[in-house]
Amino acid sequence: MSGIPHDHYEPKTGAEKWLHTRLPVVGLLYDTIMIPTPKNLNWMWIWGIILTFCLALQIVTGIILVMHYTPHVSLAFSSVEHIMRDVNGGYMIRYLHANGASLFFVAVYLHIFRGLYYGSYKAPREITWIIGMLIYLMMMGTAFMGYVLPWGQMSFWGATVITGLFGAIPFIGEPIQTWLLGGPAVDNATLNRFFSLHYLLPFVIAALVAVHIWAFHTTGNNNPTGVEVRRGSKEEAEKDTLPFWPYFVIKDIFALAVVLLVFFAIVGFMPNYLGHPDNYIEANPLVTPAHIVPEWYFLPFYAILRAFTGDVWVVMFASWITGGIIDAKFFGVLAMFGAIAVMALAPWLDTSRVRSGRYRPMFKWWFWLLAVDFVVLMWAGAMPAEPPYSTISLIGATYWFAYFLVILPLLGVIEKPSAMPETIEEDFNNHYGKPAE
Ligand code: HEM
Repeated sequence: MSGIPHDHYEPKTGAEKWLHTRLPVVGLLYDTIMIPTPKNLNWMWIWGIILTFCLALQIVTGIILVMHYTPHVSLAFSSVEHIMRDVNGGYMIRYLHANGASLFFVAVYLHIFRGLYYGSYKAPREITWIIGMLIYLMMMGTAFMGYVLPWGQMSFWGATVITGLFGAIPFIGEPIQTWLLGGPAVDNATLNRFFSLHYLLPFVIAALVAVHIWAFHTTGNNNPTGVEVRRGSKEEAEKDTLPFWPYFVIKDIFALAVVLLVFFAIVGFMPNYLGHPDNYIEANPLVTPAHIVPEWYFLPFYAILRAFTGDVWVVMFASWITGGIIDAKFFGVLAMFGAIAVMALAPWLDTSRVRSGRYRPMFKWWFWLLAVDFVVLMWAGAMPAEPPYSTISLIGATYWFAYFLVILPLLGVIEKPSAMPETIEEDFNNHYGKPAE
């Protein structure tokens, strides 16, 4: 399966041979778990396993919640209260699920920024990256629909605002919005279809994760140097790698334990910290909350959505050139989806022949500015849409696009990379000393 030469599974006993000639499933598992992995991976390579854990946690806790939840506008809110008060351990299952979504996004953002820094998106790992982006989009859809299910005030009004964005699409927007909602407004039909899709999508994500893993097992993992594993012979490859089992399994389990320590402290002691108090008020279509804010993990893109108001010159220009078809609202929607699209195109926008940011002296600065920009946008997204926050959002959104569309293509041409090791083995030995012969 992997391009890196290594030992493959050899069935020994009669029973093993019998199974292997009919269904080589043990061979598949063996090759997966024994995959040669660059031996210099640092702690930023733990997030993939944390993400896999999160997916499993969300599916298991979600299935238990569904046993007690009722997807109907007149019962949804009280069925969640019933889970919290009456079901044995119900409050714990619910808090694990709600905070599990947050851990999932913490992990995915660190995983994505790791990829952006070490150039993991670059050839030959473009498919791993694109599948990752699809997973990310599905995660956002799943989280958004899940938040509607408790049928609190933020559930209802968040759903109203976000599905309203589709209404901003010229000509076909309104029919699309009605089709999505199953009627003219957020109501029982909406709750039902969101429930159905919220249950379905995690399994689609699980399938995409399998393809994601298949893709990077084919190319081999990237690593902090960005230098590829030598593949001339098995002996040569073994100088750059260690088998995933037991070395990285133990490392990942340790990392998971540390992350879970923090996670359980939050679930146990401050489970509502990341939530909004208004969602403990039952949905009421006649009362609009003072500030409708999405969950924290949507905020950077929510800030980009709101950044492009009617008085921004690019919006005015787009409106003028299209005869008013692109108005401020539609421009905002395009910008929000565009912000993710430019990130997905990173493999083709980055022109540098050096993969890892470690050996790119200029790139480093711009990268860290992007990381700060992301946090600033997250903060601005939670603020009211008025000066100075709207100006800050506009600057942040502009930098986001500039990074991918201008800085990445340009840096590859003007930057002089610093000295880098020839092999992963050399980097490893520089770090830990040469092992005794
Ligand atoms: C449910 C979500 C996801 C899961 C379970 C997952 C899982 C994994 C795992 C286990 C790895 C191996 C290395 C590591 O642990 O870092 C990996 C690598 C990678 N992931 Fe993800 N991932 C997810 C989402 C994403 C997203 C959203 C992106 C960004 C577009 C992405 C991009 C990558 C890339 C480029 C690599 C290759 C890096 C390397 O080879 O070391 N992944 N992923």
